Amino acid sequence: MILLKNLQKKIDDQKSILKNVSFSVPRGNITAIVGPSGSGKSTLLQIIGLLDTPTSGELLLDGIQCNAKNDSTVTIMRKKMIGFIYQFHYLLSGFTALENLLIPMKIKAEDADKDVALSILQKFDLAHKKNVVVDKLSGGEKQRVAVARGLVNSPKIIIADEPTGSLDRQNADRVFEVLLETARNDNATIIIATHDDNIARSCDQVFLLSDGYLTKA
Ligand SMILES: Nc1ncnc2c1ncn2[C@@H]1O[C@H](COP(=O)(O)OP(=O)(O)O)[C@@H](O)[C@H]1O
Ligand SMILES: [Mg+2]
Repeated sequence: MILLKNLQKKIDDQKSILKNVSFSVPRGNITAIVGPSGSGKSTLLQIIGLLDTPTSGELLLDGIQCNAKNDSTVTIMRKKMIGFIYQFHYLLSGFTALENLLIPMKIKAEDADKDVALSILQKFDLAHKKNVVVDKLSGGEKQRVAVARGLVNSPKIIIADEPTGSLDRQNADRVFEVLLETARNDNATIIIATHDDNIARSCDQVFLLSDGYLTKA
């Protein structure tokens, strides 16, 4: 489902954040990327999520080559195929938890099914917060809304950048459980950057990013 070949990301002539990164993720698998802060995890995830472009190398999503920068197919793929969960939640300020789920649904399909959005909030024990403006939620609640929002359009590919970073053990485990269920039940393909050993160990495969090189952990 996800295939990277010799992917490189340079920020200038001197420095490469990613050096010859190659790996693949089969459909329905959940893969962890671990590595120290600043090792390039977010950069790698943003490239796979079509939010950034590599300097060289190949990226294929579901067999489709995603190298062209301003290609309209890339924009469509990003919208229809990928659910991106940001390291810093980036919720829409001034809107409720429910609205934060309904807005991406409307962008994708015009009509947004409130019941679907509510059932996803429920999975994260957030149904009772549906009408609360997200600015008033705790850090952990915001993070869970952000993860719920990433799942709302049933994307084939889910990319989660440290989604449990600001959660306590119980909530982190719950978030991971829902991601795992989504991989197992909906055949979603998931990549998760994490510092959490418990979570990494429960993934189908783990890669370590260090000094720009990705190796199987
Ligand atoms: N657009 C950019 N321009 C310059 N440096 C960048 C850019 N994006 C990331 N970096 C640098 O690349 C390195 C990797 O960053 P990042 O991908 O955020 O790592 P991680 O998510 O593992 O903490 C860091 O040193 C960061 O400062
Ligand atoms: Mg990061």
